[in-house]
This record gives sequence, C-alpha cells and structure tokens, in this order.
Amino acid sequence: MNVPDIIIAVDGYSSTGKSSFAKALSARLGLLYLDSGAMYRGVTLHAMEKGLVREDGSIDSEALRASLGGLELHFERSAGKSLLYSGARCIEEQIRTLEVSAHVSPVSAIPFVREWVDERLHSFAREGRVVMDGRDIGTTVFPDAQLKIFMTADEKVRAQRRFDELCAKGQAPVLEDVLENLRERDYIDSHREVSPLRQAADAFVLDNSAMSMEEELAWATGLIQGRFSLLEAPTC
Ligand code: DC
Repeated sequence: MNVPDIIIAVDGYSSTGKSSFAKALSARLGLLYLDSGAMYRGVTLHAMEKGLVREDGSIDSEALRASLGGLELHFERSAGKSLLYSGARCIEEQIRTLEVSAHVSPVSAIPFVREWVDERLHSFAREGRVVMDGRDIGTTVFPDAQLKIFMTADEKVRAQRRFDELCAKGQAPVLEDVLENLRERDYIDSHREVSPLRQAADAFVLDNSAMSMEEELAWATGLIQGRFSLLEAPTC
C-alpha cells in the first residue's frame, strides 16, 4: 500500500498489545515505529538508578528535574527492532522489568517529565511517516494525527498477555501481581492531572480481546484504505 506522509497515533490501556500492533502496522505500511512508553520507562530507570525513587515509592522530583539535563535517550534500530539507548548503553531489557513497571506511572505523571519526553517525541517524529503508541499521543502529543486508534481489551486477557511476555523474557512473575500492576497503572494513567489516558473524540476503537494480530492488521489497513482512498498494490 502506498501510504501518504501520515502520523498514526495508537493509544490505549496497559498491555492491550499496542506496541506489537503498532510495530506490525508500521512494518506493513513502511512507516517508522516509535514507542513513547519506552521513553517514560527510560526516565523511570534513570530515577531508580540515581536513587530518586524513595522506599515508599514517592519520587524526589526536584533531584529528578536537575538530573534530566544529563540524560540522553534515543532509539536505535537493530534487526528490525527498535531499542532504547541511554547514551551508549542499550537499556531495552532493563526498562521492561516489573520493578520499572511498578514505578513508571508516578514518574510519568510528573508534568516536567512529560514535557521532557514530548519534546523528544516531536523531534524523533519531525520527518513524519510515523506510528507512535502511548497514552496521550492522539490527545496531546499529536492532536492532529491523521489517524487515531484507541486500543482496549478485557483486563484478564491483558494480564495473561503481560504474564506470558515476562515469562518469555525469563522473569518469574505472579499472575495476580501482574493484574494488580496493570489495574494500578490504568488508574494512575487515566486519573493524572496532565494528559490523562483517554480516548480522543476522533479515535477509532479497537477491542482486540478475541482478535489475532492478522485480524487487527486487516481491520487497520481496511480503515486506512478507506480513509485515504488507497488501493492495495496488485499482486502478480
Ligand atoms: O506502554 P507502556 O506500558 O510501556 O508505558 C509505560 C508507562 O508510561 C505507562 O504506565 C504510562 C506511561 N505512558 C504515558 O504516560 N504516556 C505515554 N504516551 C506512554 C506511556
């Protein structure tokens, strides 16, 4: 499909498969994939490593603000994957642990953290032709995105998916903890003051509780073809 220079915003609840979907869609359409959640995870890992997350889970936000000047996060592509780097260090694995997941929502609720991340997201996407996933991409980061998709799925299905993902990475999660973390993050993400998670008025809802990736992609490409009057390239 010959896709015009568009930005596609994919938002939704935790563990709805946004990243897998956005990645697969970007590959199919020949667009760049950007994972905004990875940036918040990168800032959270930074805060944890600097000792700025207190025992009670609260954040030393003044020290975090001061330390952000020394943080440089960027994505590098390797074997079709997009990996997050802090300077020269690949931190893709470290940002996906349950510990980082446990602290990322409070960190991402801090207004100056959101400004810091938003600035970088805009700079990464300045060439356009991007599929970006997150919580506020269609509402705040790119309110003029040409296509907005809001993803949702049954919470038990989501917890199981996240559980399987962590197991596949060699971690040993407890399903109830995963479900609890997911509920907590959804609550904080949708109740914070700045850029809460919510569905943009012009977003298309994708409930993938019982859909395969192929079905999700067929739904999205059908939507894109209709919206931009595109024709599938003929196959010989
Ligand atoms: O998509 P994810 O689970 O990797 O995101 C991690 C956290 O980052 C999530 O709990 C909320 C936050 N986030 C956000 O506040 N805004 C975004 N655009 C993306 C993620």
